[in-house]
Amino acid sequence: MMHPSSIQPNAHIAAMAPYALADLNVATGKRPIMLAQNESALPPSPLVVAAVDDVMHAAQFYPDPDWTGLRGAIAQVHDIAPEQILCGGGSMELIDCLTRCYAGPGDRVLSSQYGYAFFRTATRAVGAAFDAAPENDLTVSVDALLGAVQADTRMIFVANPGNPTGTRIRRSELVRLRDALADHIMLVIDEAYGEFADTPGEATFDLASRGNTVVLRTFSKAYGLAGMRVGWGVFPPAVATEMRKILTPNNISVAGQAAATAAMLDQAYMRATCAGIIDRRDRCIRELRNLGLVVPDSFTNFVLIRFPDGDAAVRADRALRAEGIVVRGMAGYGLPECLRVTVGSAADMACATEHLTKHLTTGHNRENPQ
Ligand SMILES: Cc1ncc(COP(=O)(O)O)c(C=O)c1O
Repeated sequence: MMHPSSIQPNAHIAAMAPYALADLNVATGKRPIMLAQNESALPPSPLVVAAVDDVMHAAQFYPDPDWTGLRGAIAQVHDIAPEQILCGGGSMELIDCLTRCYAGPGDRVLSSQYGYAFFRTATRAVGAAFDAAPENDLTVSVDALLGAVQADTRMIFVANPGNPTGTRIRRSELVRLRDALADHIMLVIDEAYGEFADTPGEATFDLASRGNTVVLRTFSKAYGLAGMRVGWGVFPPAVATEMRKILTPNNISVAGQAAATAAMLDQAYMRATCAGIIDRRDRCIRELRNLGLVVPDSFTNFVLIRFPDGDAAVRADRALRAEGIVVRGMAGYGLPECLRVTVGSAADMACATEHLTKHLTTGHNRENPQ
């Protein structure tokens, strides 16, 4: 029997809503096609599977707390000093830890209107206030961010490319933002989808040398390792020192470190995976636009579809789900008229576009067909 408890959480935690993950329920009896969580369309490199196999015989030992092999691989591939690299249990752990380091009660944390939802969660968890600057045409606006900075703003998070919009701003805009911000404001550039947008001249890792800017990446998307929970980032040395005090020691498992190291060293596999996803993504965008839907250009592994209104989006979501196809409703992001579709395998994308086309062209898309 449960007894009434006098245990109370901190007031700011009690005031939080649970973090909203995707609803993954599908009609029973259908083969589920999961296109809701921006995971990779492909499993990781075969070298990853072999590397994990190789280390499991030593899984009775705690993992390397300094991620030596993994940092070395990242440093080598991206030409970054290993001391500037920190690794986390997904980039979510790094976002959480940064917020714990640099914001607290009485502070404000700023992001953009359709910024990644976890920025808000991490902010609320430390008792700080969260602000969102308007976007322009589903794209981060540096002017709006600068206009929303207040005297007690301590941190700014910019996901670039953005989730759930898929859009991005150029490096020159991020530099303009950094230049215009006061030095005491921490700028976190979250590049979870960076590998899909990598372009010569657009890399931002060097901004960490300014001392107040961090760039985050993850193995969850382009490297196909969402299930391993490994993220990384480039940190100014003084920021890295503070972060190490509160990152959970031994935070990445033996398997996770081995997997991410092998994945990083197999750049050819990652690049081929991204190229295939980008190809299917752009084909999907063309097909959806031909159906009369509004779809912004995407620099990620997903597309954001804008329906005429929220009801139309809900009906399309239901129709796809009835076929076992799970995409992500965007009402929680203030975009009830949108669905976000992760780019899956060629077969899954063909199936999703076929059913969406059928839904939109047969009259079943109306609430009360005549
Ligand atoms: C913008 C953005 N940042 C961070 C993350 C978290 O990624 P990870 O799996 O590395 O924790 C996601 C995951 O969807 C994301 O979309």
